[in-house]
Amino acid sequence: MSKVKEVDDEFEAILENLEPNEKELINGKPYYYHQGFWIAEFLFRSTISAQRNFVAHEDDIILASCPKSGTTWLKALVFSIVNRTRFAPTDSPLLKVNPHDLVPFLESPSRIFEKIVFDQPRLFSTHMPHQLLSLSIKTSDSKIVYISRNPMDQFISYWFYTCKFPNDPNAEPVDLEDFFDKFCRGIHNSGPFWDHVLGYWKASLERPHKILFLKYEELKKDIGFNIKRLAKFLGFPFSEEEERRGVVEEISTLCSFEKMKNFDVNKNGHWTLGISNSLFFRKGEVGDWKNFLTPSMVERMEKLLQEKFGEHNLTF
Ligand code: A3P
Repeated sequence: MSKVKEVDDEFEAILENLEPNEKELINGKPYYYHQGFWIAEFLFRSTISAQRNFVAHEDDIILASCPKSGTTWLKALVFSIVNRTRFAPTDSPLLKVNPHDLVPFLESPSRIFEKIVFDQPRLFSTHMPHQLLSLSIKTSDSKIVYISRNPMDQFISYWFYTCKFPNDPNAEPVDLEDFFDKFCRGIHNSGPFWDHVLGYWKASLERPHKILFLKYEELKKDIGFNIKRLAKFLGFPFSEEEERRGVVEEISTLCSFEKMKNFDVNKNGHWTLGISNSLFFRKGEVGDWKNFLTPSMVERMEKLLQEKFGEHNLTF
């Protein structure tokens, strides 16, 4: 049986066997519960395909995240770090191409990565939880970098994004209370966020040479240190000479929110599915949730964070 047929059959079987409480609508779009996680319908088949069929190379680099945790920034940084001897910052493909087109999603429904001619190492990204990654990724020596973010900021970022997705100017605004309630019940793409975060957190503790666990807030606090940390982890450490020449600062500036937001491709270009690249660059701040969440929402979230992350010594 062909792999396509196998995936189609599995997809059909999963859909047929879903319980009523394993289907939800978010902003009018269907989401399904699969092996402990919620997945948007438009990503469901391709997620199963990536889970079953993706074969990792030993030197692949996979950038993982929950949506709206800083994926775009991480892609720009890692692309710049590993390709720094090929492209000077003034000649970087980032000046003309959105990071999502340079580092494709494993579970992209358009299978965009099959059309890309990769340089070594191959760079991929994913919103898939660690629990759903292909066995090949887990057992190979490929590296994974995970970026996490304070879930309240992530939530607000996700809410804004969902309100605009997919660029329909007449779309009704998404009800914040309802969206928040679903988020706290784990119902959002790749949710529950706590299981997503914990999957990578635990794996990073078990295999620190394979998985690097980052926090968006730490990158905001000291990007230079984290660029060097990333480079070392990925096997592309900066030489003293490079440091003296200011290469770390050049990468930090090239990938900064202020710079990237203003590249023409990110202001006016479009990504697959018709999404404006500008949707990936909103405010880029820590703590914006304070402007939107009510005290009772904050209380509910803080309880949840304590309950889910407390015993794991994980704070945001
Ligand atoms: P906000 O909506 O809080 O501004 P993702 O890339 O995972 O979709 O996450 C998007 C979030 O990262 C958005 O957060 C976006 O503004 C922020 N972001 C994008 N590029 C960034 C950069 N270069 N530096 C810092 N934050 C960035």
